Amino acid sequence: MDMFVIQGGSRLKGNIPLSGSKNASLPIMSAALLTDEEIILRNVPDLADIRHQCKLLESLGAKVWRDNENALHIKVEDESNCQAEYELVRRMRASICVLGPMLARRQKAQVSMPGGCAIGDRPIDLHLNGLKTLGASIHLEAGYVSTECPRLQGTEIFLGGPFGSTVLGTANIMSAAVLAKGKTTIESAACEPEVVDLGNFLNAMGAKITGHGSPRIEIEGVDQLHGCDYEIIPDRIEAGTFMVAAAITNGELTIEKCPCNHLMAVIDRLRHIGVIVEPDGNNTVVSSARRLTPADLTTQPYPGFPTDLQAQLMALLCLADGNSIITEKIFPDRFMHIAELNRMGARLRKEGPTVVVQGVRELIGAPIMASDLRASAALVLAGMVARGETQILRVYHIDRGYEKIEEKLNAVGASIVRTSES
Ligand code: EPZ
Repeated sequence: MDMFVIQGGSRLKGNIPLSGSKNASLPIMSAALLTDEEIILRNVPDLADIRHQCKLLESLGAKVWRDNENALHIKVEDESNCQAEYELVRRMRASICVLGPMLARRQKAQVSMPGGCAIGDRPIDLHLNGLKTLGASIHLEAGYVSTECPRLQGTEIFLGGPFGSTVLGTANIMSAAVLAKGKTTIESAACEPEVVDLGNFLNAMGAKITGHGSPRIEIEGVDQLHGCDYEIIPDRIEAGTFMVAAAITNGELTIEKCPCNHLMAVIDRLRHIGVIVEPDGNNTVVSSARRLTPADLTTQPYPGFPTDLQAQLMALLCLADGNSIITEKIFPDRFMHIAELNRMGARLRKEGPTVVVQGVRELIGAPIMASDLRASAALVLAGMVARGETQILRVYHIDRGYEKIEEKLNAVGASIVRTSES
């Protein structure tokens, strides 16, 4: 397994590019199962999770390849297999988003139930209720969800749950309802930019979707969809992570083609903390040269503060001049990074879904362990500012969601070496 060895103390400076959004790519790639015509996707990042999704699509009869301009092509050639195997699904929870498209197109779908996850309990009841409301039969058997329906029927579906709406649940229901008979209305739909991107992609395939990006999505079912050529949006979570990288190292980064309109809640908190965020044409310049003001933040569904940037902001607030309060309202147990940051000299105290962050003067390098994707990103940020050397074990977590992170950060002045754990 790979590890990172980080020498702390460098100020980052320069231009840094963004990759395409992982969380937009995964459901869009799944939706390619809705046609047997060729789909071309541009700006799909080259990541462990994406390569995994390619394998899953191949197991479901698709031919998947990259061309010499790095565009990803998907063409379904055999629709006879309707089962997504446990061996493939267990490695990545987002595999569940093949369920809706496969059911809509092949009239049946069997997907292994996703297992446990480092960020907490992650049920799929809302996905299943939505498909049932569209007329599908649902059975749970030997760890698999089996669904069947000769033709889904448009209807009204409420998708809200105890923690708000569901991003992949909305993706699944949208991608199923596009081929349903008649009109479907999704109430309490997720409004995340990745859901909007999926809606735009489905429309490019010939679907009739309106309202995506709002809590009420309307879908007029069509008989069939066709191939298309589509460009995925930039990764807002990677952008937010680089904003914190500039701030935590007292540096100045120009984030290229930064989707600031998808990051308003994050920019609001960063400005409160004292970070300077300034648009410069398509780019955004982020800098920080003074002491950090503490801040309170609560994660919420979009357009609120994203749970996927909670750990990174916590790393930054460890160094603020006073106490901050962070409350996690999407995944209340998503705090695996606390113990590791405390090993580096942070003062973090968890009380239920809330963490009290007592600012310290410095973090100190230590051997630490990556646990999930975003927690690992927070540890890289902490390592870049810590005194001395930080060794991060199990960086495969970060490789799931950040494309060439050490190359991008080293190009603007970081000192991160990838090596093998001995
Ligand atoms: C997506 O996960 C993202 N994953 C996650 O990104 C992100 O953290 C999450 O949305 C929230 O923004 C992908 O896009 C691949 P949810 P998803 O269903 O869709 C509860 C990352 O680091 N819920 O919106 O699986 C659930 O427990 C990751 O890139 C139900 O109760 O999340 C949670 O409390 C990890 N029943 C809340 O809803 C359900 O059926 C939101 O989860 C489904 C969800």
